[in-house]
Amino acid sequence: MHVIVVGSGLAGLFAAVRAVDAGHEVTLVTKGALAESNTEHAQGGIAAALFPDDSAERHEADTLAAGAGLCDPDAVRVLVEEGPARVRDLIRYGVAFDRDRSGLARGLEAAHSRSRVVHAGGDATGAAIERAMIATLRHRAVRILEHTTLVDLVLDAGTVVGVDLLPPPSVENAVRAGATGPAPAEVAFSRLRVLGDVVVLATGGAGQLYAHTTNPDVATGDGVAAAWRADAELADLEFVQFHPTALAIAGTPLVSEAVRGEGAVLRNARGERFMLDVHPLAELAPRDVVARAIAVEMAVQGGAPVLLDATSIGRAELHRRFPTITAACAAAGYDWATAAVPVSPAAHYWMGGIATDAWGRTSLPGLYAAGECACTGVHGANRLASNSLLEAAVFADRVVQDLAVGARPVGGRPAGARPFGGSTTRRAETAAHPVGVSSTASADSSVWVTAASIPPSTAISPAPSTALSSAQPTALTSAQLRQRIQRIMWRDAGVLRSGDGLRAARHELATLSRPDTSSPSATRLDIEDANLLDLARLVVDAALAREESRGAHYRSDFPTTDDALATRTPFREDALAC
Ligand code: SIN
Repeated sequence: MHVIVVGSGLAGLFAAVRAVDAGHEVTLVTKGALAESNTEHAQGGIAAALFPDDSAERHEADTLAAGAGLCDPDAVRVLVEEGPARVRDLIRYGVAFDRDRSGLARGLEAAHSRSRVVHAGGDATGAAIERAMIATLRHRAVRILEHTTLVDLVLDAGTVVGVDLLPPPSVENAVRAGATGPAPAEVAFSRLRVLGDVVVLATGGAGQLYAHTTNPDVATGDGVAAAWRADAELADLEFVQFHPTALAIAGTPLVSEAVRGEGAVLRNARGERFMLDVHPLAELAPRDVVARAIAVEMAVQGGAPVLLDATSIGRAELHRRFPTITAACAAAGYDWATAAVPVSPAAHYWMGGIATDAWGRTSLPGLYAAGECACTGVHGANRLASNSLLEAAVFADRVVQDLAVGARPVGGRPAGARPFGGSTTRRAETAAHPVGVSSTASADSSVWVTAASIPPSTAISPAPSTALSSAQPTALTSAQLRQRIQRIMWRDAGVLRSGDGLRAARHELATLSRPDTSSPSATRLDIEDANLLDLARLVVDAALAREESRGAHYRSDFPTTDDALATRTPFREDALAC
């Protein structure tokens, strides 16, 4: 079989290695250099029940509890049972997890009842994994297309048969000049069409939807958007996880939850430990709880970041265990061994994505998805810390196991998936959004949290108004369009949401002009912007449709959890109450 893998984070690399080892022909496509991925930036590590005081059942219970009633229990069972074997595979592939006197070193992260997070390079786990997996891949006969952007899936009578790609300029020029391109490929305008037997999307998340994110620039949701345009079922799009602690400087570098696991505490501007009043687990409460509490606290203090006080850990241990964060703090002029550092929530992980079953099958024949772009159901409404790398390895492995069955993935909705349905005329719909911008654009803010989305009971200072003024440009550059989407999403579809805010976002997004990706002159940025705009609209619609608060999705107009909505209910665009 010719397997086309798109994406080179852990899910993509793992699938590629497994597929070639299983005797398949593999083409791996990635938008940047091989290592450019969310995986590369992962700090905390991988959670798995690897230690004698732990069990799959405990890990399962923690995952289900964090997921706030929306996990798929069967998928979670697969994750926790197969997880330890996949971590051992990573060790075989050369990932040098940190060790201590007792064997593998392990850390504690929020909402885990046991220390079970294995890590590498202290807080550079993702980079260590990428290094080892890329080295493993390089020893295998895999066709690698770097700097090559997914444009769309190619369908034949409803079956996915390949991908349309935007090649890097050097390849495009060579192909145009008559040189042999990567086979089997056809050239269409400035595009490469690569045909195969199955496509595995492992394109990661879409943190770039938001003004503040821990994700790298490549995280623009390309696979989810392409799957949606191909009419694949999506699910749980409203559930975006905001990491509680990104360093509140440009680029919002991640400050791992493991730092709180080692004893760091959160303080407000008055120096008070506000989490003690919020949750019995205080700073180690589930991620959505901590992120929301920080957002409220920041609103109370006029948008100023809260403080992460890691001074009790001690300089030597901070340097040994968290060299990446220590360096990021130092680069910003902070010595976190002696003083608390400013932190804020930032978009971190998308629980929603392409609906799959427990074998990574999507609703489209010929299409699999694994990693963050997939919605397997293991994360529910709120992902448990350090379960994402585990999910990537476990389900990438299952995708390749499923190929051995020999058949294309079965079409139709994956069992148990929460569909995010919609019209079958999606291309036409997205193209039909009018050009221009809203005259009702409301104030954006240069601070991290805006007043509009704070629960009414919270006393706040008004957020300063800056951008998104009424002086609207008629045509936006790519940078302006992206910034605009990110600001709208941060303001209205972020940590704290409301029906009014979401409706304003929906209106404003509808006025933005989608770049024409069918144009031969469309660039990678145009394709990314079009994807971000498609996905922003979907996230906002999904958030409007869920009239409750659950996990990472908090609505001030529906602040409680509605048991009736714990089930996987279909979403239909015509059912929106707005
Ligand atoms: C972290 O180190 O806090 C991030 C780990 C994760 O997102 O699972």
